[in-house]
Amino acid sequence: MRVLSGEAVEPPPIWIMRQAGRYLPEYRKTRERAGSFLDLCFTPELATEVTLQPVRRFDFDAAILFCDILVVPLALGQSVRFKEGRGPVLAPAPVDLKALDASRVLEVLEPVFETVRLTRAELGAEKALIGFCGAPWTVATYMIAGHGSADHLVTRRFALQEPGRFQQLVDILIAASAAYLIGQIDAGVDVVKVFDSWAGVLDEEGFARWAIAPVAEIVSQVKDARPGVPVIGFPRGAGTRIGDFVRETGVDGVAVDWMLPMKEARDLVPAPTALQGNLDPLRLVVGGDALDEGIDSILSAMRGRAHIFNLGHGITPDTPVENVARLVERVRGGAS
Ligand code: CP3
Repeated sequence: MRVLSGEAVEPPPIWIMRQAGRYLPEYRKTRERAGSFLDLCFTPELATEVTLQPVRRFDFDAAILFCDILVVPLALGQSVRFKEGRGPVLAPAPVDLKALDASRVLEVLEPVFETVRLTRAELGAEKALIGFCGAPWTVATYMIAGHGSADHLVTRRFALQEPGRFQQLVDILIAASAAYLIGQIDAGVDVVKVFDSWAGVLDEEGFARWAIAPVAEIVSQVKDARPGVPVIGFPRGAGTRIGDFVRETGVDGVAVDWMLPMKEARDLVPAPTALQGNLDPLRLVVGGDALDEGIDSILSAMRGRAHIFNLGHGITPDTPVENVARLVERVRGGAS
């Protein structure tokens, strides 16, 4: 929380994206008990348990609420399923705008708020609890295509050919996401993060209209309603546009992917905005010198600047748990 207010803290606090997940044996066990992934997200006792697992094991400085960005389309009435080995499948695709019902979003998401309450009660006061949602662009890519893809051609084409209808979808997502984040804050999260994992596929105009403007609106609604709660943005793939993103959205911190050197992010984003990132998750899989080298170069690039250590994207299921322990130890000044 101090770093998000602009303070440089040494050693930097650390948590990792997707820290609760399949690389942890205890996660796989709880996941099995829950049945489906969505059952896990909507069962507060089990979601609390998996939220806390990585903090217990590695003593991270923050917990991130266990849930998924796609619960928002689900709460709006689109069908969302997670298929083993295939990822999310949404139907119908493209989404039927007229069938979306914004009136029940908070009611459907009530179990998530309960997870926040239970987690906050169990988490030590010295640990931050991070809430989150997906950014409208990234969530829309799943709602339009019906599944993930590498290039997001289907959604980019839709946004170019039918900008009016696409804007309607984005407006629905802005309102639902802001209300969802405010609900998480009222339930006890200390900070919220907006994940725009696919922002990088947009061109200049697309990035301004679909990545910056909707997140700026969400940040403004959250800050109007609950002033003082910091917001982290993650415009993955923004590259040099990260400076515009921060200036125009008003986020307090920005997560940096591993393709952008931290020293460049530091120049592009003026202080006191905090920077989070940006170890290549593959270095964490490989371990050894590849891991140590990656950690040290980030730490030296960020010395003296408000920095939260993290990966440049989510941890992958093939990551050895001992490498995660080594990462935390080295960031905190051991394991040299
Ligand atoms: O970070 C955390 O520990 C908190 C939980 C969290 C999950 N998803 C759990 C999850 C968070 C913050 C997310 C965000 C999310 N979900 C994003 C944005 C961040 C990113 O990684 O880019 C996106 C794009 C999604 C959508 C999503 N959810 C996909 C594409 C998939 C399938 C891919 C995969 O890894 O299986 C998911 C499923 C998912 N979300 C899992 C977890 C732990 C794996 C599901 C399982 O246990 O089988």
